[in-house]
Amino acid sequence: MPNPFTLGVASGEPLPDGVILWTRLTGLSRPADVRWQVAEDDRFAKVIRQGVARAQPAWAHSVHVKVEGLRAATDYFYRFRSGGELSPAGRTRTAPGPTSTQPVRFAAANCQRFEHGWYTAYRHLADERPDVVFHLGDYIYEYARPAHGVRRVDPADETTTLAGYRARYASYRSDPDLRAAHAAAPWVPVWDDHEVMDNYHGRGDGSDRFLRRRAAAYQAYYEHMPLRVRPRDGGLQMYRRRTYGVIADFMALDVRQFRGPATMLGAEQEAWLVARLAATPVRWRVLVQPLFFTRRFVPGPAPNLRKESWDGQPEQRARLLAAVSQNLVVLSGDVHNAWAGDIVTSAGATVGAEFVGSAISSNPPVTDGPGVLAANPHLRYFDAHRGYLSGTASATDFRVAFRGVDHVDRRGAPVRTLAEFVTEGGGIRRVDV
Ligand SMILES: [Fe+2]
Repeated sequence: MPNPFTLGVASGEPLPDGVILWTRLTGLSRPADVRWQVAEDDRFAKVIRQGVARAQPAWAHSVHVKVEGLRAATDYFYRFRSGGELSPAGRTRTAPGPTSTQPVRFAAANCQRFEHGWYTAYRHLADERPDVVFHLGDYIYEYARPAHGVRRVDPADETTTLAGYRARYASYRSDPDLRAAHAAAPWVPVWDDHEVMDNYHGRGDGSDRFLRRRAAAYQAYYEHMPLRVRPRDGGLQMYRRRTYGVIADFMALDVRQFRGPATMLGAEQEAWLVARLAATPVRWRVLVQPLFFTRRFVPGPAPNLRKESWDGQPEQRARLLAAVSQNLVVLSGDVHNAWAGDIVTSAGATVGAEFVGSAISSNPPVTDGPGVLAANPHLRYFDAHRGYLSGTASATDFRVAFRGVDHVDRRGAPVRTLAEFVTEGGGIRRVDV
């Protein structure tokens, strides 16, 4: 039997006492037993937890192991074994305990269209070994293979079926830099539209055809991510918080599944979020989500506001902002360029900061960044490199570095910090110059 661990290993959803371990076996048709181990050291001399999981064909031979009883804010190493074959080892890390004031080092990535470029940025992200990695959506793109691309994605057709989505995820995970990023740190991913279909909202057109497609896409997403919960009845519970001591409450949002004509989040998710925003005792309230949050007026012919972003739901955005007075941070993606700005209420109060990650590989649109900057005084930074966010939240401040590479059409680009910003809870200040 060839080594079945070709898609790599991953961990995610860190809590103070545990994480989820993930792998998916390839080349099998029958159920298989998979042994797993967690150790304190990367040579597995001190194995402190182990067990056996069952990889089932119905779940594409994916394995999601819930490990409990770990120490808080601690590095662990894990691996799998099946049929005499060993997986690569991964490094993970638990969250700190509820009263911890320890800073949290995080990275955020998004938008990784396979045909558009190499995942060099992920290699650099992996080298940073952050405490946690957030993925802000567009992990895959559902489109058919284009005539021209930096590399060839599988399958050739647009993905609409469970088999198609599974093959698309497997194609993306054939990239060793993406596998390295998963093996380097625990992930907390959120999805945007392309994990299912371009610009879909909620239940789409309501047809059985669309709902079957969405259920297939959600199942394949689960099968390839280290998530705590399984899909059920065609849905998947994605909004959740991951809390790091009294320093940061990372609130991962679902801007697709419950979206409707007058809501980005749906009533239940909004109520959950508003309650937590108002009541959380932690220093930083961090929204982990895909879409440009602050107002972005694009000069030129109408429409000047992008209705697909939060500018399409200004009332709901205002209700979220009414729940905070400061210390709000929003992490976003989607637009394939990097932005940073202040979050200002309609009453003129600066309550936080938004950091928009560019893209790991997806091509940027033709956009007039400087023109948009000039038309929006609260927006303070624009950059067109591919890259990711690298940040630290602490009791004193919240820092974000925009990390970028000069090219993705060939391998090997070095990474550098393009700009770095800091906030103490109101507006942002550039600190790299
Ligand atoms: Fe994207």
